[in-house]
Amino acid sequence: MEDIKLSDGVKLPAGTHFAVASGPVLLDSDNVPSPEKFDPMRFYRKRQVPGEENKHLLPMTDKNHLHFGHGKYACPGRFFAVNEMKMILARFLIEYEFKYPEGDGRPKNMTMDENVLPDPEATFMVRKRTAAEMNPRFPRCTERSRTSDRYFFETVSLDRSIDELLHLDRNSSKAILI
Ligand code: HEM
Repeated sequence: MEDIKLSDGVKLPAGTHFAVASGPVLLDSDNVPSPEKFDPMRFYRKRQVPGEENKHLLPMTDKNHLHFGHGKYACPGRFFAVNEMKMILARFLIEYEFKYPEGDGRPKNMTMDENVLPDPEATFMVRKRTAAEMNPRFPRCTERSRTSDRYFFETVSLDRSIDELLHLDRNSSKAILI
């Protein structure tokens, strides 16, 4: 392992753990107006500009969107990861309803080195939607919930893995399911 000197003179000593501050770049209001505001149509609107229709997509990287890295070593799994995340989120939203326990709000972020994580001690509440609540265009979901009596809110902990929740979904008669 050897030291590296970048073209602008910055030296990276061999063996040093370093990371690019991709979060602060993405939350820089010079790049994204009101970055802290939840605006689900933010990138959709950018794609409405003529010539930009195929840009501003989640797996795309550029100097202001570094969540998957950028350039030669950008994450090769990002297209797969983005599709997986969207499918999981869609299933959560179609089949379940979530809310915070009474008096609670969004759990604070935790950091481990450069990684940002939700507090694993935090709890949230989940209930299976009834067949009538679900879109009839998804007959598999509707059929599953028709045979289920699990329509009550239950408190679950964020540190439960998705595997465990899936197991509960299949094997328990309680309302903890994802
Ligand atoms: C949300 C999920 C993911 C995020 C946020 C993510 C993010 C990243 C980042 C930031 C890098 C480093 C880029 C760099 O060194 O500059 C990376 C590298 C990499 N990722 Fe991912 N990744 C994700 C999912 C995946 C998946 C699902 C796979 C494989 C199926 C994958 C495979 C890789 C590989 C092989 C590299 C190393 C690339 C190289 O050094 O040439 N990643 N990823």
